[in-house]
Amino acid sequence: LALGRRFGTLAGKRLIITAGGTHEAIDPVRFIGNRSSGAMGFALAAAARDAGADVRLIIGAASATPPLGTQHIYAESAAAMHDALHHEINQGCDMLIMAAAVADYRPVSVADNKIKKTEQADHALSLQLTQTTDILASLKDHTGLIKIGFAAETHDLEQYAQAKLTRKGLDAIVANDARTALGASDNAVTVFSRHGQRWDFGRQAKTELAQQLIELFSGFLRT
Ligand code: CTP
Ligand code: CA
Repeated sequence: LALGRRFGTLAGKRLIITAGGTHEAIDPVRFIGNRSSGAMGFALAAAARDAGADVRLIIGAASATPPLGTQHIYAESAAAMHDALHHEINQGCDMLIMAAAVADYRPVSVADNKIKKTEQADHALSLQLTQTTDILASLKDHTGLIKIGFAAETHDLEQYAQAKLTRKGLDAIVANDARTALGASDNAVTVFSRHGQRWDFGRQAKTELAQQLIELFSGFLRT
């Protein structure tokens, strides 16, 4: 490890990686969440650590275990992750990898007390939701760091991924099938760069895939 830090392809580079889903509170005991385990982000953090990087890992709601040898910062909700990420970027960052599955909507208000059910058995409860801040889009004016996003799609993967790459001002986007990637131990992805390049990675363990992705991203820092 110590050797890697001095001699790896990412030696001396500061990486921020976000991982896991987010929890958006409904009341003191309930939240809206998603199936992200954090496994992909954690595998990327471990691979970046092994390549010699100084890794800060911003962790949302994750069931997997974060790797040793990386700094852990916990941020449960989309808003908390937004604030934590801006804080960490201001401390200096060469590359951001946004692997977290950030909630798109949160409850408009969080109830102070536990919401009680009604006596009426067929009562339909409605929750009003509002959009969260798009964290990557909020970093559009932050230049001088490489920004890599993830795109989780169930259909029209390439078109949607390309649109996100442009809209969020990214250097590259990792596109994957949301149905098979979330919560699984393996993954298959396609990476699109802002220069129109494309790389396909076949289905394999997230740990193996992460090493290949980190090798690819290391090249972005040199060019
Ligand atoms: N992302 C973000 N902030 C959000 C939502 C998403 O920074 N509030 C990031 C994700 O971490 C990911 C990228 O944006 O790196 C794409 O996320 P994705 O959910 O695929 O796209 P969205 O822009 O949220 O669009 P949609 O969910 O409608 O496909
Ligand atoms: Ca989304």
